[in-house]
Amino acid sequence: METVKRTKIVDVLRSKDFGTTVLVKGWVRTRRGSKQISFIALNDGSTIHNVQIVVNTEAFDEETLKPITTGACISVTGILTESQGKGQDAEIQATDIFVYGTADPATYPLQKKGHSLEFLRENAHLRPRTNTFGAVFRIRHHMAIAIHQFFHERGFFYFHTPIITGSDCEGAGQMFEVTTMNLYQLKKDDLGVIDYSNDFFGKQTSLTVSGQLEGELAALALGAIYTFGPTFRAENSNTPRHLAEFWMIEPEVAFNEIDDNMQLAEDFIKHCVRWALDNCKDDIEFLNNMFDKELIERLQSVLKENFIRLTYTEGVHILEEAVAKGHTFEFPVFWGADLAAEHERYLVEEHFKCPVILTDYPKEIKSFYMKQNNDGKTVRAMDVLFPKIGEIIGGSQREEDYDKLARRADEMGVPTKDIWWYLDTRRFGTAPHSGFGLGFERLLLFVTGMANIRDVIPFPRTPHNAEF
Ligand code: 4AD
Ligand code: MG
Repeated sequence: METVKRTKIVDVLRSKDFGTTVLVKGWVRTRRGSKQISFIALNDGSTIHNVQIVVNTEAFDEETLKPITTGACISVTGILTESQGKGQDAEIQATDIFVYGTADPATYPLQKKGHSLEFLRENAHLRPRTNTFGAVFRIRHHMAIAIHQFFHERGFFYFHTPIITGSDCEGAGQMFEVTTMNLYQLKKDDLGVIDYSNDFFGKQTSLTVSGQLEGELAALALGAIYTFGPTFRAENSNTPRHLAEFWMIEPEVAFNEIDDNMQLAEDFIKHCVRWALDNCKDDIEFLNNMFDKELIERLQSVLKENFIRLTYTEGVHILEEAVAKGHTFEFPVFWGADLAAEHERYLVEEHFKCPVILTDYPKEIKSFYMKQNNDGKTVRAMDVLFPKIGEIIGGSQREEDYDKLARRADEMGVPTKDIWWYLDTRRFGTAPHSGFGLGFERLLLFVTGMANIRDVIPFPRTPHNAEF
């Protein structure tokens, strides 16, 4: 027989070449039927949809068909036929079947019946084979493409910042250390302080919490850059919105002021959402029907609206008024307090009913590098708040004045000796500039409608969880 090239199932289902011979390979989702005829739903990951394989059991020996159970991997040659059943156009009348790998039903964890998301987290090595995670991970891929496309089209350069760093950019003590020292035999001085001179880098190093500081160096040379890479935070927050390892996209643009920064953030998110609706239709429809009946509607409505822009101070007023009218929050609301997710979501979901960009936060609750306003109290920060998510983007205009920046770093206990290279940008050819960070998984929560951030990254890292 003439050899036939393999076709992906996504293409088979679109094909109208009925009567031709096709070859498909994939994993069995279900098998049902009678003594004479068997129907196999086969999926190869190229689409959420399965192709139906029709098997005339009398034409095959028992040995071939017996191991074709849920989870088995098979190769099927057959005639592409117009389907009689509704829902799909093409099915395959099998002429030849080869079993690559069996999956013993007694031990294979994934069965026909739906599994809970918690069960699937415990089987993260197999969950990409489910409809839900196939959909989520295809969308994740498309969002990465959308992001590169957005920036590339606008003349931004993709800039790679280091993962191992000697500085703590956000000034917070929540980093994972990187060391090759033997932890059983740590060398310490008389005061019990660890001596890092013999460590791999000859100094204390950690996994980065953000590529921003290095990104700023690049923006003040290449003009407009973005980073897109993994970041690490050792904060012990076991919430549905926090990961210890997550991916962040950080654009940084010379000469942009806070208003330009807000516009860039709004255009950027809308581009990603539009891309998802245009390119991930089947997967989003599936998730809409399975988990979140308002998903598509919510995605479309974000595209239509202009994000509301207001200051932190105005936002706190609205929250205080809500409290005065009897609304209760778990955490107190007052000027100077960091906003909790419940406050952010009240503004977005109940008050404005659309995405909100809050600016000009109290300097005490924001990082040292943010541009200081003339009021002496606030900085030119911006957070983009989204329905169901809360904070999806954090960013700011940056302080470009050397003296103000160095003073603020000192006040906030950021060791300036470790970031001399960052401060140098303000000594040599400084310029106004702005940027922000989008949490990739927070974007995916929004686009997929999934409720838990552990379900939008293949291998989540959270406290006490690094099995896979
Ligand atoms: O607000 P963050 O901490 O800002 C920065 O890191 C700045 N250096 C960004 C910049 O201006 N270039 O983090 C940015 C975003 C948050 O808005 C959130 O979406 C996400 O990163 N994020 C997390 N996502 C998942 N798990 C965590 N633990 C996260 N922490 C922040
Ligand atoms: Mg933030």
